[in-house]
Order: sequence, then structure tokens, then C-alpha cells
Amino acid sequence: MTYRINGSIGRVVAPPIAEAREWVRGRRFPEDMPLIDLAQAVPGYPPPAELTRRLAELVDDPETHRYTDIEGLPPLRMALARHMSDVYRTDIAADRVCITAGCNQAFCLAVMALAGYGDEVLLPLPYYFNHQMWLQSLGIAPIYLPFDAERGGTPDAAAANSRVTERTRAIVLVSPNNPTGAVYPPSALKAFYDLAKARGIALIVDETYKDFLPTEDRAHALFDDPNWGETFVQLYSFSKVYCLTGYRVGSIVAGRRLLDQVAKAMDCVAICAPRIGQEAALYGLCHLQEFRAKNAMLMRERVAGLKDALRQRNTGYELVSIGAYFAYLRHPFDGEPAHAVARRLADAQNILCLPGSMFGPQQEPFLRFAFANAAADRFPDLVDRLAASARA
Ligand SMILES: Cc1ncc(COP(=O)(O)O)c(C=O)c1O
Repeated sequence: MTYRINGSIGRVVAPPIAEAREWVRGRRFPEDMPLIDLAQAVPGYPPPAELTRRLAELVDDPETHRYTDIEGLPPLRMALARHMSDVYRTDIAADRVCITAGCNQAFCLAVMALAGYGDEVLLPLPYYFNHQMWLQSLGIAPIYLPFDAERGGTPDAAAANSRVTERTRAIVLVSPNNPTGAVYPPSALKAFYDLAKARGIALIVDETYKDFLPTEDRAHALFDDPNWGETFVQLYSFSKVYCLTGYRVGSIVAGRRLLDQVAKAMDCVAICAPRIGQEAALYGLCHLQEFRAKNAMLMRERVAGLKDALRQRNTGYELVSIGAYFAYLRHPFDGEPAHAVARRLADAQNILCLPGSMFGPQQEPFLRFAFANAAADRFPDLVDRLAASARA
């Protein structure tokens, strides 16, 4: 006799990035055709030396060894509240901020506080796979909103309205989007907000890529409603903006009613976010505005560079949407599963990207390219190899 696995998590797919890494593990790549790794959304550059120096100093400080408050270091909560208040031209109090071990944990905790087994959460296609995986793990049914390539990947609030039921607890959006790169217009976010408010459900917006928007304009005006905390749940990550993916630090900005429940879950799963990561995020918020702006510009240049490279070369691949860290392309192999296409690109062209099928149903025609990982001077080679794959 042996133990049984919880069927809810047992039915969840294996971690997708880990699977893609296996495709190239142990392989050697020739100098004239190195691996172009566009699988995982990680900055291809390191954090600045002034940040790592600061962290080295902190390691010797006895305070660094201790837990923090469950909801995070007070100066960090204050700094993030100030940052979000500046960005969104509003006034967010520090007690509306909970620091988490990355934005993935932020999502997990927020969802745990909002929904349970048998409930439903609306999730536009294509989804960020960890969102879908977590919902399924908890026995929460993800209810998909259709993907409309013609709308540039922005989901339609009207389509969401007809899918809200007694069991719906939340709508989840990601903007700028993973995997499509689409930046949802403020009007679309407002339409979802109005719908969520009218139907008495939460609107969760994952803003992991907010620092890589195409312009300096604020992404939305959802904090303008004095009662935003009764509807809006904002998730954020320090991973990409300050190159802290391994430090695990993110946040939830929400109403106190939700954060009181989030604190219970956080206390159980981690007690607090890693302190060294919190210190890194605080340093970033207080000292790295220039670094942030410089890399936002770098990513905008990559968006433009990849668009150009694809325009100049007839690859057979069609750019469906692009922005922030990602490009979503339609591959030219009609009817062939995206997984097989991605595998072949890895095997024959030394390009590692993710198949659309990792991001939900009806995504077989697509591939995701996470270009933050690759400098723009690799793009001509990338499109040459894509073109060669289409000819083969
Ligand atoms: C949409 C989205 N949310 C969350 C995360 C995870 O962020 P973190 O490293 O802060 O957990 C990612 C990372 O790829 C992401 O793309």
C-alpha cells in the first residue's frame, strides 16, 4: 500500500519551462550556430553592481538573518506604495501592500484568499501557464475567454460577462501579456473592472511587465476609484525590472479585507518573503530609477528590432503580437502541433522557444519567443534560421 496523490494537482501539467530545457540539455552547439534561448522570460543582463554590493554588505548584518513582518519590511511596503502612487497618480497607503516571494506566489496567495474548490475563475486564452496550473491545483475551474488574434490578443469584457456564474470569484488578466506581449489599452482594463465590480467579483491584474510598457503613460486608471480595493487586486514582480529572478520578490496591492486573508496563507507557506530579496527590491525602488528606465528603453528597442527583422525577411512566420518581453508568432506549418514545431526548431535550428499549446487550448498555431533573453544583434540570425526552418 502506498499513499495517493491529490487528484487536483495530479492532473496539472508538468512545469513547462523545465520540459523545454530538457530538449537541449547536454547538447553542444557549434560556434556558427549557437543556441538562441528564447524560452524563459528572464533579463539577459545582470543586476547592477551597486545592488549586489549593497546585498553583500547586508549579508553581514545580523538583522538580515531574521524573518520580516508577514506582509514585508515596512520601508519596502512604503516605498512600493509610493512608487505605485507615482506611477498611477493616486495615493496608495503602505498597508495596502503585501510583499510576496515573487509574483507567482502573489497570484497563489491572492487566489487562495478569493476562491476555493468548485469555484470558477475567468482566464483569457492564451493564459500564463502557472495561473492555470495553480487554479487546477486548488480544484478551481478556469473558465477560458477566447483568443482573438484580430484584437491583438486583448480579451473582450463582453465575452467575459456572459461567462460569469454564481461560482465565479475572479477575472485574471496579465498586461503586458505573457505569452502574447499584448498591452491591453486602459479602456479594456476599465471595461473588465466595471464588469467585475458590477458582478461582485475580483479583478486580478498581473503587472509583472509593467516596467516594460511602450510609453511612459500610466497603464490604467483603476486606482482612481476610491473603492478600488473592493474589486481590484494588483500583482507585481521585482524579478524582471531589477534582475532579481532568484531572489523571489513580488507584491500584492489590494484592499485590507483581502490582505488580512492573504496574511494567513503567507504565514503558513513562507512566513514572509525572503528578506534579502526584500532588501534588494527596496534598494531597486530607492536607487535604480535610471537602471529601470534604461532597460525599459532597451526592451522597446528589441520590440522594434524584432519587428524590423521579421518585416525584412520572408520567414513564413507571422507576427501576431509583440510587446514588453514577448513575441507571439503564427508558425507556417498548418495543422502541425506547436509542440512538434518547437521541438524541431530546437533540434534543427538551435532555437529554444515555447509552443502555444503550453498556454492553453486553441494555441497550436502559435509559438512564444521571450526575447528579453537575447540581444537585438541576434535577431537577423534568428529570422534567417526561422526562414530556413520553413523551407526545410
Ligand atoms: C505573467 C507572469 N507572472 C508572474 C511571473 C513570475 O514572476 P516572479 O518571478 O515574480 O514570481 C512571470 C514570470 O515569467 C510572468 O510572466
